[in-house]
Amino acid sequence: MFNRHRRLRNNEAIRSMVRETVLTPDDFIYPLFVVEGENIKKEITSLPNNYHYSIDRLHEVVKEIEESGVKGIILFGIPDHKDEVGSESYNDNGIIQKAIRKIRELSKDIYIITDVCMCEYTSHGHCGIIHDENVDNDETLDYLCRISLSHAKAGADMIAPSDMMDGRIAAIREALDKNGYVHIPIMSYSAKYCSAFYGPFREAANSTPQFGDRKTYQMDPGNIREAMLEIESDIMEGADIIMVKPALSYLDVIRWAKDKTHMPIAAYSVSGEYSMVKAAAKMGLIDEKKIALEMLLSMKRAGADMIITYYALDAAKWLK
Ligand code: PBG
Repeated sequence: MFNRHRRLRNNEAIRSMVRETVLTPDDFIYPLFVVEGENIKKEITSLPNNYHYSIDRLHEVVKEIEESGVKGIILFGIPDHKDEVGSESYNDNGIIQKAIRKIRELSKDIYIITDVCMCEYTSHGHCGIIHDENVDNDETLDYLCRISLSHAKAGADMIAPSDMMDGRIAAIREALDKNGYVHIPIMSYSAKYCSAFYGPFREAANSTPQFGDRKTYQMDPGNIREAMLEIESDIMEGADIIMVKPALSYLDVIRWAKDKTHMPIAAYSVSGEYSMVKAAAKMGLIDEKKIALEMLLSMKRAGADMIITYYALDAAKWLK
C-alpha cells in the first residue's frame, strides 16, 4: 500500500485548490531611485529596466505603479552633493524630501516608504559618521533621527532604517514620537547581511564605500542565531515590521523570523538577485518570467509577508 499524491495534481483546478502559497501584487514593494536634474529617465546599467528619475518625470512612473496594482514603494535618493556628514540626507529640500512631496502630490494612494541611511549621501560612502576610519555608532544615531524626521515631515508613510547601527530603532521611535509622528511605522532592516549581492545597487545609488567594507556593522553571512538577536532588539525597541536582506540566499532566516516572532516580515530581494536573472535571461539561458515568479514565490513560502523587489511592476503585470 502506498499514498497517491499525484491524485491532487491531476489538473489545474485541483492544483489551484490545494496550492498553499499564491503571489499577488499586494505582496510587492517597488524600489524607486530619484536623482537631481531635469528631464531625466535614465536606465540604470546594473539594474536593467529600472531607471533614475528626476522629480519632473516622476509622474510617468507613478502612473505605471498605480496601473500595476502595486501599492508600496521604497525611495532612494542620489544627491548631487556629498560630504562627511551626509548633510543632504536631512535637508528639507534634499532630493528625497522633494521626491516625497512630489509623489504625494501626484498620488494620494501610493504608500511611500523611505530608506533611511547615509551611504548615498556621505563622501566616504559609509552608513554613518566616521572617526578614525570607524563608523561611530552613537553619533550616527542623531543623524538617523534627523533624516527620519525630515522624511516624516515631507510626508513619508513609513521609515525604513538600513544602516545597521545599534539602538537606531529606539532612537528613531523616540524622535518620531516626540515630534508628533506617533502614527508613522518603522520597518527595520533587522537582519541585514554584509553581502556581495548589493553590488549592482551600489552602482545604481553611487554608494560604494571609498575605503574598507561594511563588515563592522552589517551581519556575517554565516550567522542565523545572531539574526534573532538583532530581530529581538528591534522588536524591543519598537519596530513594526522586521526585514531580512538579502532574500534568496537567506530563506532560512526568513523562516526562522516567521516561526520565532509574531511580527510582519519583509524580505528584500536585492539588486544582485535581480541582475543575475536579467543577465541569464539576456543570454537566453532561462525563462525570465517563470524564474522571477518562482523566486518571489519561494520568499513568500519561506514566510515573507511583503517583498521588496525590482521585479515588482513586471511581476504584478505577469500575475494579471
Ligand atoms: C543602504 C542600502 C543598500 C541597499 C539598500 N539600502 C546598500 C548597502 O547596504 O550597501 C541594497 C539594496 C540592493 O542591493 O538591492 N545602506
